[in-house]
Amino acid sequence: MRVQSLLFFIIILLIPVIIFRKNIKSKFFLKNKKYVLTKVVSHSDKKIIKLLNIAIADEWLAYYQYWVGAKIVNGNLAQEAIKELVQHANDEKRHAEMLTEHIIKLGGLPILDFADLQIISGCGYIVPPMSGDIKTILEQNIEGERCAIKFYKDLLTQVQDYTELEKDIVIILKDEEEHERDLTEILNKV
Ligand SMILES: [Fe+2]
Ligand SMILES: [Fe+2]
Repeated sequence: MRVQSLLFFIIILLIPVIIFRKNIKSKFFLKNKKYVLTKVVSHSDKKIIKLLNIAIADEWLAYYQYWVGAKIVNGNLAQEAIKELVQHANDEKRHAEMLTEHIIKLGGLPILDFADLQIISGCGYIVPPMSGDIKTILEQNIEGERCAIKFYKDLLTQVQDYTELEKDIVIILKDEEEHERDLTEILNKV
């Protein structure tokens, strides 16, 4: 009876591991993966390159979320929302470019495999509703912006020794805060 109970307990423990094995495996390997470096860099630079790659993943996923949202959004004030979503998508892409320049300057490379973006992303990707409901799309993007604001505020505390990067993070953070305000303004009118 005891052996049976033990076996049952082990099986229960293994179920989530079996179901999520692909995800667990990729997260584990990516977390421990050495980011691609083009030269010997200090421990501190390595840490910054890793954080900037997380930021790049978030920016690209945010870009796509805005881009696809602008294509499918409908409802009251859809035209106003589209204008804003397209503008935000362009801003996120510009942010990804700014961050990539810093990674390369530091001696690293941006994430090369597109599939890795969602794995290392801190804020993730929220799938927009098939209905294109404007309220849901705005709420999802506001959630993404709040996550980005939190990430960049935290990043700012870690880049004091990197003057140029610090300046750019301040610019990006300002954009993200503006994005959140713009979306909230439209949401309040919907
Ligand atoms: Fe951004
Ligand atoms: Fe943003």
